[in-house]
Amino acid sequence: MQRQSTFKPLKWHLRCLLIILCPLILISLFSIVFFSSGLSYNQFIFTIKANNSNSQLILPYTIQTQVFSLQAQVGVLLEQLHSESSESKAVAKFSDQILDIAIALDKLADSLSGLQRSNPPPSSNEISNVDEDLSEPEESDLEDGIMNRKVFNSGELLNYTLPQSNRLSGKKHFLGVEAINPSVGQVCAKMGVNIDHFMTYKVYGMCPDDWDIAQKLIISGCDPLPRRRCFSRTPANYSKPLHITTSLWSQPSDVNILWNRYKCKDYSCLVSNETTDRRGFFKCADCFNLSKRGWDSPTNESNSAEFTIDEVLRLKPGEIRIGLDFSPTTGTFAAMMRERNVTIASATLNLGAPFNEVIALRGLLPLYISVGSRLPFFDNTLDIVHSTLFLDGWIGTQLLQFVLFDWNRVLRPKGILWVDRFFCKKDDMKLYLDEFSRLGYRKLLWRIVPKTDKLGNELFFSAVLEKPSRS
Ligand SMILES: *[C@@H]1O[C@H](CO)[C@@H](O)[C@H](O)[C@H]1NC(C)=O
Ligand SMILES: *[C@@H]1O[C@H](CO)[C@@H](O)[C@H](O)[C@H]1NC(C)=O
Ligand SMILES: *[C@@H]1O[C@H](CO)[C@@H](O)[C@H](O)[C@H]1NC(C)=O
Ligand SMILES: *[C@@H]1O[C@H](CO)[C@@H](O)[C@H](O)[C@H]1NC(C)=O
Ligand SMILES: *[C@@H]1O[C@H](CO)[C@@H](O)[C@H](O)[C@H]1NC(C)=O
Ligand SMILES: *[C@@H]1O[C@H](CO)[C@@H](O)[C@H](O)[C@H]1NC(C)=O
Ligand SMILES: *[C@@H]1O[C@H](CO)[C@@H](O)[C@H](O)[C@H]1NC(C)=O
Repeated sequence: MQRQSTFKPLKWHLRCLLIILCPLILISLFSIVFFSSGLSYNQFIFTIKANNSNSQLILPYTIQTQVFSLQAQVGVLLEQLHSESSESKAVAKFSDQILDIAIALDKLADSLSGLQRSNPPPSSNEISNVDEDLSEPEESDLEDGIMNRKVFNSGELLNYTLPQSNRLSGKKHFLGVEAINPSVGQVCAKMGVNIDHFMTYKVYGMCPDDWDIAQKLIISGCDPLPRRRCFSRTPANYSKPLHITTSLWSQPSDVNILWNRYKCKDYSCLVSNETTDRRGFFKCADCFNLSKRGWDSPTNESNSAEFTIDEVLRLKPGEIRIGLDFSPTTGTFAAMMRERNVTIASATLNLGAPFNEVIALRGLLPLYISVGSRLPFFDNTLDIVHSTLFLDGWIGTQLLQFVLFDWNRVLRPKGILWVDRFFCKKDDMKLYLDEFSRLGYRKLLWRIVPKTDKLGNELFFSAVLEKPSRS
């Protein structure tokens, strides 16, 4: 959002900035130059073509020349608009937008020449890979190499990504910038077809019922998604939710959920034995039976990896007030915490079933966020982070690190991380334990027991860990 203020003389920052800036500005320019002067799209596209399958973007250093050429063309456009005698508001607005682009382009050219000075171009093959400092490119099984063919197409997306100038009559500067740049995840560029699809809708009309496409994009790292100017659908016969005194443990009404994109078409399908193999979800299979409280039964230390909620809360009486549950869940943990006056946000995606809807219908707070996203909480704020049934042997250590360090960021000093039944193969446990140990937390509770339900060579790991104070 704040292009100018993130601009620092560091080479790395310049590179990041370039990666973000170039596609956005070039894409904006393509559309305007293309539509208004009929120039060929292909003349410009090669500057952001991905050539190497290992990198998302390769920017030749000759991009500077390209930018100069674009500057010249925008100049010509501006001149034409200027001599246009039309009084129409639309032309004036258009002209203003082009001016904004010209200014943005000048800034880009400036920063590019700064980069060229500090980083002379490689003389041999004239390719500089500006992507090298970023995390590994993500494999998208939905699309591959889309960048080679097309960039964004939908007009709404182009409009969304244009810098949104502040109103002259209002505050010219807001948050230190003159224009807000709505953000879209960079991976979106690799998923042009899907995100174009997502952004193709009737403005001011009814939105398509397509949360599943949105979730596909989010899971693939195209996150945050652009907002849309359409009315989201509501269930046809929505009835008011159950009363707060009963909603926590009552099955919500079928009419309050839009079932179109789920395999199940009513609530009984979510809990019935008969539908187990065709209801479209596997994680948290028992979750929708809201009469199952879990965590209730006292545990047998020698064979259970579960701590009870009361056992954990007793560690810090009255101190645990707000927190996060990061698990595939219908909110049962949050419900039990609510009964103990603790407010918990439940972070989960809708993995084949209406998890978020059910959490909300119970009167709890659903947080719709993917594992790849930074948590929407400020640093040092939460008393507790709990996670179960989610982290297990599938997770790579690098992703686990990003997740753990973000949890660490939002936990307050002396806040607790409750890792609830993390499981993996016996041989991998040390690897994972090293990652948990890296946080340097104090062990309040710690248990490793064999996981007996499946192969037999797996272990459960549960721990309650306390974040140290670091200044
Ligand atoms: C793109 O990559 C191929 C093989 O990886 C290479 O032969 C070709 O020269 C590259 N093109 C450019 C423009 O660098
Ligand atoms: C994008 O913005 C322009 C100028 O404001 C407008 O004319 C055009 O209709 C918009 N496109 C869409 C798809 O809303
Ligand atoms: C909503 O209620 C109407 C009238 O009772 C009924 O015909 C319709 O099938 C209901 N729609 C849904 C989605 O339940
Ligand atoms: C559902 O499955 C459980 C365990 O598999 C079994 O105990 C129970 O009787 C079944 N219930 C029905 C209604 O089939
Ligand atoms: C939900 O769980 C409870 C307690 O285990 C069980 O008695 C009940 O039959 C389950 N409901 C369904 C629909 O399976
Ligand atoms: C706990 O589990 C162990 C081993 O399975 C068993 O020997 C013991 O009797 C159990 N204790 C209780 C209180 O159930
Ligand atoms: C929760 O708060 C209510 C009202 O303040 C209080 O009466 C109740 O005892 C509290 N419950 C717990 C478990 O602390």
